[in-house]
Amino acid sequence: MVFKVAVCGAAGGIGQPLSLLLKLNTDITHLALYDIVNVPGVAADLGHINTPAVVTSHKGAETMGAALQDAQLVIIPAGIPRKPGMTRDDLFRINAGIIRDLALGAAKHCPNAFMLIISNPVNSTVPIVAEVFKAQGVYNPKRIFGVTTLDVVRASRFVTDIKGWVDPVAVRVPIVGGHSGPTIVPLLSQIQPTQDFTQAEIEALTQRIQYGGDEVVQAKDGAGSATLSMAHAGARFATAIIRAVVRGETGIVEPTYVALAAADPAHAEALRAEVSGLDHFAFPVELGKEGVHRIHPIGSVSEYEKKLLATAVKELAGSIQKGVDFVATKN
Ligand code: NAI
Repeated sequence: MVFKVAVCGAAGGIGQPLSLLLKLNTDITHLALYDIVNVPGVAADLGHINTPAVVTSHKGAETMGAALQDAQLVIIPAGIPRKPGMTRDDLFRINAGIIRDLALGAAKHCPNAFMLIISNPVNSTVPIVAEVFKAQGVYNPKRIFGVTTLDVVRASRFVTDIKGWVDPVAVRVPIVGGHSGPTIVPLLSQIQPTQDFTQAEIEALTQRIQYGGDEVVQAKDGAGSATLSMAHAGARFATAIIRAVVRGETGIVEPTYVALAAADPAHAEALRAEVSGLDHFAFPVELGKEGVHRIHPIGSVSEYEKKLLATAVKELAGSIQKGVDFVATKN
């Protein structure tokens, strides 16, 4: 079976290690690396690794079509990262246009691809991709995902930092909402395996999960944001999709930021009610051959989590609208 993956922004801080991890995935037969700079070296280097994927290099806007042509999965870490003192929203002005152009390319060259969006602000860039696909008449909400896996990865790690004996791979914290500060809502009351936390632990952990990205931005002192842990998280999510699509595995659940339009009509109304009618939200999503198989509800939450959710919903409404307005006015 042919399985082509295109990485857009492949020469970047995330793009390079992410492409390396994808090159190690033996289900991928073609890895198309696209960037506006430096990508030939990355592709030549990775191309020498003796795994099945053929690596191709695509440098410059005029090569975007060839990179995306017939891709089954497109993963986008293109754009600028944060510097100290910046919020993810500060990136909107530059990254929104980059994402819109890549979405236009994908709508033309691989309209059925699974679209995995890493570029920030994810809360707005995912609605941008959705609006571009709608305008091009190729919208399938079951195939567009905002990658929030890094928050999930961090949560598992941070929990084990205070409960030393727990295996960080086994710990599962559902994270819902979005991917920026107060929109990241860890549901520690639903953690698996079950843990007892004091309220002080819950508040400290929540704060660290919401602002974990800032620790990396500050430690890198102006050189960017998380790249290596993000590459791991991106590869984990891409691999989950590939396992569901190529291998037909069932029961794979990953939190991810999706459109409510991807919900099964029988559950859509109940899910919308949980998020006060928002069009996009991160839920635990069961993956299947078609992409979103089933969006799991938020379910029962603590009083503290209810307050976090209310704050997240308010902020997300503005971020989603910002993405929608960008495509409506600049397309
Ligand atoms: P980077 O600056 O190291 O790399 C970005 C790459 O995108 C560069 O190689 C650049 O040449 C390329 N690029 C720029 N414009 C392009 C275009 N029009 N077409 C194709 N490629 C283009 O940045 P880094 O650290 O890799 O971060 C990338 C993005 O990922 C940022 O927006 C960052 O905020 C986001 N990010 C998202 C996370 C998440 O959890 N979803 C976590 C960490 C970062």
